[in-house]
Amino acid sequence: MDLWQCSAVVTGGASGLGAETALHLAEAGAKVAVIDIDPKGVEAVATKIGGLGVPCDLADAEAAEAAWSYAREMHGPARVLVNCVGRAHPQRILDRGKPMPLEAFRYLVEVNLISTFNMMRLAAADMASLASKTDGERGVIISTASVSAYEGQIGEAAYSASKGGVVSMILPAARELGEAGIRVIGIAPGLFSTPTLFTLERDLNARLASQMPFPHRFGDPAEFARLVLHVISNVMINGSVLRLDGGYHR
Ligand SMILES: NC(=O)c1ccc[n+]([C@@H]2O[C@H](COP(=O)([O-])OP(=O)(O)OC[C@H]3O[C@@H](n4cnc5c(N)ncnc54)[C@H](O)[C@@H]3O)[C@@H](O)[C@H]2O)c1
Repeated sequence: MDLWQCSAVVTGGASGLGAETALHLAEAGAKVAVIDIDPKGVEAVATKIGGLGVPCDLADAEAAEAAWSYAREMHGPARVLVNCVGRAHPQRILDRGKPMPLEAFRYLVEVNLISTFNMMRLAAADMASLASKTDGERGVIISTASVSAYEGQIGEAAYSASKGGVVSMILPAARELGEAGIRVIGIAPGLFSTPTLFTLERDLNARLASQMPFPHRFGDPAEFARLVLHVISNVMINGSVLRLDGGYHR
């Protein structure tokens, strides 16, 4: 997929992996809309990349649909969607005998999984209406999972379940949307240095980094963004979840 003047949407693009992805997409010539709950962050990224900032709580399905429509109105239907929206809130199922509030589990599933699917379905409808390009391709949808989908730690039952849902929907979505020339791919990052997520892991950076087979460090968000751009450019990548983890198995 050629990104020049192509309309692209990045969710969770106000920070971390999403912000870096938005920058790389803009540098490749795409018209980028960033949708994120953080109004200041969204504005800062949009200004930096010359794109569109759309503040929105993606856990609110109606607001998310309105944000999607606004991005379409401003930039035209997207051919690229990169879902980076996500939250992690480690919490034990039993904390000194008290059960984890069900609402806490529901919230992470809402933000990490349901909002990702919501964007996917809206994107698919728009992409399917577009003229096809080389190889009959109409669009690419990339969603961020996590290695916690496979190897979750204590305290990650909700986070792992939400990311496991992202992993599991990639293949059926690719099978279905392939009929319309839309590719669907997942990326499962290991440990990346991002400003707001996984503070705890960052504090333990040295110990965790030493356990990585190679390289012995956290990932750089630019390495994630470069994979996103490669996936967009390589039409044979479809229906898979790509681990990006330096060989790290938790
Ligand atoms: N950093 C890592 O090591 C790592 C590892 C595995 C997976 N991931 C995943 O990568 C993605 C990006 O994470 P990151 O490390 O860049 O974190 P980040 O916190 O820097 O970025 C996540 C963004 O999502 C936004 N967001 C959160 N809830 C939202 C909501 N309800 N509506 C709209 N926006 C919302 C935040 O405002 C933030 O800008 C997440 O899905 C995360 O689960 C990150």
